[in-house]
Amino acid sequence: MSARRLLLLGPPGAGKGTQAKILVDALGIPQISTGDMLRAAVAADSAVGREAKGYMDAGELVPDSVVIGVAEERLGQDDAANGFILDGFPRTAAQAEALDDLLGRIGTKLERCVALVVEEDHLVARLLKRAEIEGRSDDNEESIRTRMAEYRKKTEPLVAYYRDRGVLTEVSGLGEVDEVAGRVSDAIR
Ligand code: AP5
Ligand code: MG
Repeated sequence: MSARRLLLLGPPGAGKGTQAKILVDALGIPQISTGDMLRAAVAADSAVGREAKGYMDAGELVPDSVVIGVAEERLGQDDAANGFILDGFPRTAAQAEALDDLLGRIGTKLERCVALVVEEDHLVARLLKRAEIEGRSDDNEESIRTRMAEYRKKTEPLVAYYRDRGVLTEVSGLGEVDEVAGRVSDAIR
């Protein structure tokens, strides 16, 4: 039986979104991507979107207070009751602690954190390629540099945080999408 309360951790372009979508189909549990939710908020010009937009375009993390609210509301919805795939949340120590608190309050906990490992050169190449196809506003060289720096400084420490809790598996994110999916599937079994 596979774990069902999952976190995909990894730097920008590591394949969190790509692998999350494969897991949605395989496990029938929702992907919870704070990046996708924030982009939807920006597109809808909501209060959260107006607050987040400048940070996102620059490649900086949106303040914890905003993101934690968005994630907690989503995790409280019915379809997340039997499992979820977190993609891009938590990204700071404060967010990780807020997630632990929230899950603790509802009597559950994170079962597995899969950290996708990809070297920075490959990440930048992937994101610049996506820029040509999708035109995401933060897929430009300057914002990509900032996103990588934000990851190293604020998010990478979570690898140790989840290792200490005994739920971490590191998986190479290099190779074909299906090969990576096979490694992720092994990691959550
Ligand atoms: P977010 O949307 O989470 O972006 P990100 O972390 O920068 O990561 P990406 O979505 O670019 O990459 P990914 O790992 O999902 O890879 P993907 O599968 O797309 O966050 C955006 C912004 O929102 C942040 O900068 C911040 O401002 C804000 N934000 C979001 N969450 C936040 C939080 N918790 N706290 C604070 N701020 C927050 O793949 C990338 C590309 O590579 C694609 O083109 C894909 O087709 C390709 N690809 C995937 N797998 C492979 C493979 N195996 N081989 C070759 N190419 C591949
Ligand atoms: Mg993504």
